[in-house]
Amino acid sequence: MDDEFYRIKRLPPYVIAEVNGMRAAARAAGKDIIDLGMGNPDLPPPQHVIDKLCEVAKKPDAHGYSQSKGIPGLRRAQANYYGNRFGVELDPETEVVVTMGSKEGLASLATAITAPGDVVLAPNPSYPIHTFGFIIAGATIRSVPTTPDEHYWRSLDKAMHFTVPRPSVLVVNYPSNPTAEVVDLAFYERLVAWAKENKVWILSDLAYSELYYDGNPTPSIMQVAGAKDVAVEFTSLSKTYSMAGWRMGFAVGNRKLIAAMTRVKSYLDYGAFTPIQAAACAALNGPQDIVEKNRQLYHKRRDVMVEAFGRAGWDIPPPPASMFAWAPLPPAVKDMGSLEFSKQLLTHAEVAVAPGVGYGEDGEGYVRIAMVENEQRLRQAARNVKRYFQSLGINSSAA
Ligand SMILES: Cc1ncc(COP(=O)(O)O)c(C=O)c1O
Repeated sequence: MDDEFYRIKRLPPYVIAEVNGMRAAARAAGKDIIDLGMGNPDLPPPQHVIDKLCEVAKKPDAHGYSQSKGIPGLRRAQANYYGNRFGVELDPETEVVVTMGSKEGLASLATAITAPGDVVLAPNPSYPIHTFGFIIAGATIRSVPTTPDEHYWRSLDKAMHFTVPRPSVLVVNYPSNPTAEVVDLAFYERLVAWAKENKVWILSDLAYSELYYDGNPTPSIMQVAGAKDVAVEFTSLSKTYSMAGWRMGFAVGNRKLIAAMTRVKSYLDYGAFTPIQAAACAALNGPQDIVEKNRQLYHKRRDVMVEAFGRAGWDIPPPPASMFAWAPLPPAVKDMGSLEFSKQLLTHAEVAVAPGVGYGEDGEGYVRIAMVENEQRLRQAARNVKRYFQSLGINSSAA
């Protein structure tokens, strides 16, 4: 019997899982690990959203199969969000689909539109589903940079010129996970023009739409005139409303892509539990003060983290958006590599971070620090790191 499964052979061991395993073992041994590894929000969702979930769950008729593409009210709520936030009009029937988190949405779309032999352009470093969603579908990845500078544009052109068959899809993700880099609307304008010229679909992941810190609201690619001709965009309730475990996300935009994805989903799932969808409506339609409150809270954490780690001897550029800092390894430990450094931090400082190499080879030299513990714990993490640096004989200020 052949147990060399085609898709499984294409999935390498998950690097980040190694650190996660060590973290779990340390915790089981009673250690108080400060977990800045996973982007798992530590904040509760708004109370009225939880209340709506409970209220609808009590209805006897709310427990059957739901609608795979999402209940109409939720698709309307998402269309209203795009209208209010970005001034973008969407048809809830044909241009919006509800997904079980944006991760599932990306994977379903990858399944719908790619086949073995297709080439997909994806950033490196990137959030794993941006590559592995397509690898699972059998496609080949050609990496392009994450940093949106002129080198990025040259890489895109080079990729189109030298790749056979020509790439059919480009994935973009700003604010970026893991690098926290951002783009402005002019970037998206150029990207839409480029995609039209090169006949490439664009998949934009906007999971961090509401977590921006320097006063500039994150733009959507859908704000570009004609974006719907070539693009879809994914958003999520996971971070905006701290609802990561609820598995609620959306794809909006190009009708053909939305239809393809909806079709695949109709074979795979019956949609999220109806009370969750009803509660997601409450999140999008209800009071939005929590969004601003959470933004301020992450902003404060960011400032505390950058300042406290800086004093420990680790210079971390303040992320302009997202819930992550993309931190270069301090020069004195650079040779260790990001995986070993993450393990050492866990063992000796009791702080969990995600090794940059887990996001692609170009993530080497960095670790990703998630701001998912409170300010006091972030300060404690910085003190632990300082002690670890000192134990290595590194003067904090020279680390
Ligand atoms: C860039 C990015 N996209 C998608 C996701 C997945 O989000 P969801 O919970 O909506 O599946 C994450 C989660 O961390 C993310 O960082």
